[in-house]
Amino acid sequence: MGERMLVPFNTHVSTWSRPHYIGGLQIGSRMTLVKLRSGLFVHSPLSPDEGMQESIAREGHVKHIIAPSLYHCMHTEAFASAYPNAKVYGPPGLPEKRPGLGAIRVIENGVEYAWSDEVAHHVIGGLPALNEVAFLHRGTETLILTDLLFNVGANRPLLTRLFFWLTGGYNRPAPSLLLRRFFLKDREALKESLLHILEWDFEKIALCHGNNVTHDGRRLLEEAFAFLLGEARGD
Ligand SMILES: [Fe+2]
Repeated sequence: MGERMLVPFNTHVSTWSRPHYIGGLQIGSRMTLVKLRSGLFVHSPLSPDEGMQESIAREGHVKHIIAPSLYHCMHTEAFASAYPNAKVYGPPGLPEKRPGLGAIRVIENGVEYAWSDEVAHHVIGGLPALNEVAFLHRGTETLILTDLLFNVGANRPLLTRLFFWLTGGYNRPAPSLLLRRFFLKDREALKESLLHILEWDFEKIALCHGNNVTHDGRRLLEEAFAFLLGEARGD
C-alpha cells in the first residue's frame, strides 16, 4: 500500500496505489496505467504529485484519462489539468455529476474510441449509481475493474480484514456488501454484463481495491458472481 512508485503488473500494465479509507475501512485505491501504441491509458487516476509525474513520464506520454465509474472521478480533474493534451473519458452520467470536468467523452457500449484497437470496454448494467466501465487490454489479457470486485489482503488493518472476511472480498475477489445490497438495482442486467465480460480472454485482473489477480481471473470472476450467474432467467 501507498507505494511511491509505479509497480509493474505485467509487460504493459503498471499500477500506483495509495491508502484510502471509507467508514473506517482501509480499502485502498489504485490507479492503473496501460502502455498502448498511441500513448498511456490511465485508469482511475489519483491526484498527481511531482514524483508520480516523473514516474509516469518514464513510461510514456499520457494520452487517455479514464474515470471508470461515477465514484472514481474524484481526482480526474486534478490529473487532467496536469496533462492538458490528454483526452478524458467517463461513464454515462459523469458530465452531469461533474460538470467541472469540461469536455468528457462519454463511454458507451457499441461505440469505438481512440484506444479501441487495443482495449475493449463494456459499460456494466444493473448498477446505475456506479455505471462502471470494465476494460480489457487484449495484448496482455488483463481485465481492469473498479468496484465490481474487492480483494483485500493480509496487509490491511484488523477491522478492515475482519469486515471483508465476514462479508466477502478477503483474500479472494468478491463483490462488496455495498454493491450487492445497495448498488445492485437490476440483477438481470448485471448478469448480462458479466456474461459479456466472461466472453473476453483474460487471466489477470487489475483492481482498484485490494490485491490484483495474477492468474485464473476468469474463473475467479465467475465464482465471485456465482450467486447471480446461477439464477434462472426471469423471462
Ligand atoms: Fe471504489
